[in-house]
Amino acid sequence: MKTYLVTGGAGFIGSNFIHYMLKKYLNIKIINYDKLTYAGNLENLKFISKNPNYIFVQGDICDREKLQQLFEKYDIDYVINFAAESHVDRSIRDPEVFVKTNVLGTVALLDTAKNAWTLEGEFKQGKKYLQVSTDEVYGSLGKEGYFTEKTPLDSHSPYSSSKASADLMVKAYFDTYKMPVNITRCSNNYGPYQFPEKLIPLVINNCANKRDIPVYGDGLNIRDWLYVEDHCKAIDMVINNGKLGEAYNIGGHNERTNIYIVKTIISYIHDNVDPYVDENLIKYVEDRKGHDRRYGIDPTKIKDELGWYPETEFEDGIIKTIKWYLDNKDWMNNVTSGDYKKYYDRMYKNK
Ligand code: NAD
Ligand code: TYD
Repeated sequence: MKTYLVTGGAGFIGSNFIHYMLKKYLNIKIINYDKLTYAGNLENLKFISKNPNYIFVQGDICDREKLQQLFEKYDIDYVINFAAESHVDRSIRDPEVFVKTNVLGTVALLDTAKNAWTLEGEFKQGKKYLQVSTDEVYGSLGKEGYFTEKTPLDSHSPYSSSKASADLMVKAYFDTYKMPVNITRCSNNYGPYQFPEKLIPLVINNCANKRDIPVYGDGLNIRDWLYVEDHCKAIDMVINNGKLGEAYNIGGHNERTNIYIVKTIISYIHDNVDPYVDENLIKYVEDRKGHDRRYGIDPTKIKDELGWYPETEFEDGIIKTIKWYLDNKDWMNNVTSGDYKKYYDRMYKNK
């Protein structure tokens, strides 16, 4: 029975990953270690909270003592580090916490795993650390070309720079100590359980409340969208078969402008849910500082080496996603209750 330490498992992708894995494998144990920041929500895991193969521990990845206790208590085979501060806009306002969690937290986790997994100077067999990174570490593309694993790191925002720094530390643990690691760099994810500070759930929530939809700049920035379950499938494949020390890009060639995403959501809700929701809700607002223009992943390596391919077409995935948020109003009310209004007013109403 393999034991997975999943950090940040109460967030968007981590919780989807835990659901995916517990559905796919009956003979694994998952320890979800999460600080429960504003972005972490145990409701995302309520359907599996009683699963005997699932354990939740609240904690910070910067807390070495607590991490060490975990490694002493459980024979952990795999670490999958999802834990991060993940929102670019927040990183522009408050970079420091991004360095703490994303860089120092990653080093604390790497170091604790390394110590626990080393015996007489050698790593024990069958262990692996996987760093969940992002395509944003590569910077921004022009109209042509794609990010490959050989594209130099050229991050711009405090968020992406903290992720790039963490990637370099993971690489250093491989190069220096031969620690068994992989890095995955995925494009923008969408699907259930994403905190509504990110574009897609924010737009759906604003449509549902007939609130203005803020579109940054000219709305023509491009993101490469992947349904979250396809990301989870890729991580599972990299853990099992990824070549040690390698990075893998994950993306399905689903590039869309932001305004296309916004209009697609409005149009679906207009036609199927509420005819009073229309494009009058769109408000072009001041551009994000340092706004990356285009992301686009070349997934050839993970396709050729591991046989990964995305299963969900964007057109199907976006409808599934819109329906999920509209069907789960309690979830949305819950995550927008706490400090969300304060965040939203500060961000969009200059309050
Ligand atoms: P998220 O913000 O939804 O969740 C982050 C989780 O980490 C939360 O549960 C939070 O409580 C937890 N956390 C934060 N700080 C912590 C700390 N110090 N110790 C322990 N737990 C902590 O993020 P997400 O969108 O699920 O992203 C997960 C990972 O995937 C991140 O590393 C992110 O960089 C990466 N990623 C995200 C996307 C995307 O589109 N969302 C794309 C590619 C890569
Ligand atoms: P986001 O979901 O924050 O992801 P990321 O910045 O990591 O790609 O934003 C996706 C795109 O949507 C990005 O180009 C910024 C833009 N955006 C808006 O136009 N309005 C919004 O309210 C938000 C949150 C994002």
